[in-house]
Amino acid sequence: MPDRDLNMQRFIDATEAAIRARATDVPDAMVMVDRVFAALTEAGNAKATNTPTRLEPCRHLENAYSQARAGSEPIRALMDAFADIEPEFTWAPRAGAELVAGNFADNHANAMIVGPGGAGGLEARGDVVIGVSLVAPNIFYPRHHHPPEELYIVLSPGEWMQNDNPMVPKQPGDIVHNPSNAWHAMRAMDVPLLAIWCLWIGQ
Ligand SMILES: [Fe+2]
Repeated sequence: MPDRDLNMQRFIDATEAAIRARATDVPDAMVMVDRVFAALTEAGNAKATNTPTRLEPCRHLENAYSQARAGSEPIRALMDAFADIEPEFTWAPRAGAELVAGNFADNHANAMIVGPGGAGGLEARGDVVIGVSLVAPNIFYPRHHHPPEELYIVLSPGEWMQNDNPMVPKQPGDIVHNPSNAWHAMRAMDVPLLAIWCLWIGQ
C-alpha cells in the first residue's frame, strides 16, 4: 500500500470528522459516507505530475478561511488541514466555465484533491473524488447535476439550491447531500463561498 503524506491523512480525517459531526442532518448520505471513508483507509497513488497552480480568484482564500475559522471546532480543524495542503493544488476553472454567461469563469476556481488521474489532484484513485470549489463574492455557481451522489461540506457562508427550490443560506459546517442527478447550484453573497465536495464513483 502506498504511503500517504501525513498532511493529506490529516485532511482526510478532518473531512470525515466534519461530516460525521453532522451525520444526523443527512441520514440518507451515511451509506455513501461509510463507503467513501472505508475506501480511503487505503491510500491511492501519489501524483508525480501534479503542478501546483493558483488562479486569480484564489486571492479570496484567506477571507474564506477566516469565515470558516469562526465556525465549529471540526470546521476549524478541517480548515487548518486544508490550508496546509492547498499550496499543492492545481486550481482550474470548472469544465465549460467559459460558456457560462456573465463573469463566472474568472471568478471561481476548483481543485481536485483526490480522484481519477489526469484531472489534477494529489492522490490518484478511481473510487472517491474529493475536491473544492471557491466562488468569489456575489458570483453564482451554475446549476448542474451528475450521476454520482455528492456531499458538500460548507466552509464559508453562502446560498444553496437543490432541485430548483429557492436558495437557502448555509453556514460553515453545514452538509449538503445531493442524491444522484439532483440539480444543484450555489451563490456567494458578500463573502467568498468555499466548499469541499466528495463523490463516490466506485463500484
Ligand atoms: Fe456538484
